Amino acid sequence: MDKEIQKSADFIKNAKKVSALTGAGISAESGIAPFRGNNGIWEKYDPEEYAYIDSFLKDPAKVWQMIKELIDVIFEAKPNKGHLALAEMERLGKLSSIITQNVDGLHQAAGSKRVIEFHGNNMRLLCLKCGKVVKTEKELYKEIPPKCQCGGILRPDVVFFGEPIPQRAITESYAEARSCDIMLVIGTSAIVTPAAEIPVIAKDSGAKIIEINLESTPLTNYIADISIMGKAGEILPEIVKRL
Ligand code: OAD
Repeated sequence: MDKEIQKSADFIKNAKKVSALTGAGISAESGIAPFRGNNGIWEKYDPEEYAYIDSFLKDPAKVWQMIKELIDVIFEAKPNKGHLALAEMERLGKLSSIITQNVDGLHQAAGSKRVIEFHGNNMRLLCLKCGKVVKTEKELYKEIPPKCQCGGILRPDVVFFGEPIPQRAITESYAEARSCDIMLVIGTSAIVTPAAEIPVIAKDSGAKIIEINLESTPLTNYIADISIMGKAGEILPEIVKRL
């Protein structure tokens, strides 16, 4: 593993532009459960019933039970060594952007400045009636579903299944993918599109792909030039130390 970490650091040192794509795995060490696998969110909550926008619109109170649980965890969570290492890479001028599928705001909390939120953010709520966006506060969702001052139901400002990715996030992420020469792909199962296409676009545009994950993914051995099997919170600080 040490060889791969060193090779990754060397690639990054010599690169003109490095971008990162992150998924739920980078926040696992902050106590936020990933979606898939043992104890994953989709094991407890059937995505058919909870993840689709139609399910939300049909029964907002029911889906809010899950959202409340997820947001309560985010309020307690702190950025971990993985988030902090990426923020440090940016400060060192070695990371141009983070494209994240996470909706927890922990990259920003760690100090990262350029974060593209591909699936939105649970720490913002959006009124279904008047469109107002408010910061998520515990007070607001004491009763569910929470309501806006105008009486409309508030939803989290995240992308449900069946909804498009915000256009700006698509444009900016694809531009990053096409222009970086290294892409770090961290803690994502890389099966949910269109996010999973981002490393493929980067690879097609000539970038080298460095994957950090506990286990292999569809990218391993096909798209990834280097796959480091381990915890993001342990591997990323090691890479940054060697830059
Ligand atoms: P997943 O839960 O699908 O995958 C998490 C990945 O992180 C897995 O491949 C794990 O092996 C890996 N992992 C877990 N702990 C790790 C650690 N400490 N260090 C490194 N890797 C670790 O999460 P995502 O890929 O983010 O979309 O899921 C993608 C999308 O599917 C989510 O954004 C969400 C979900 O449905 C929407 O809600 C629209």
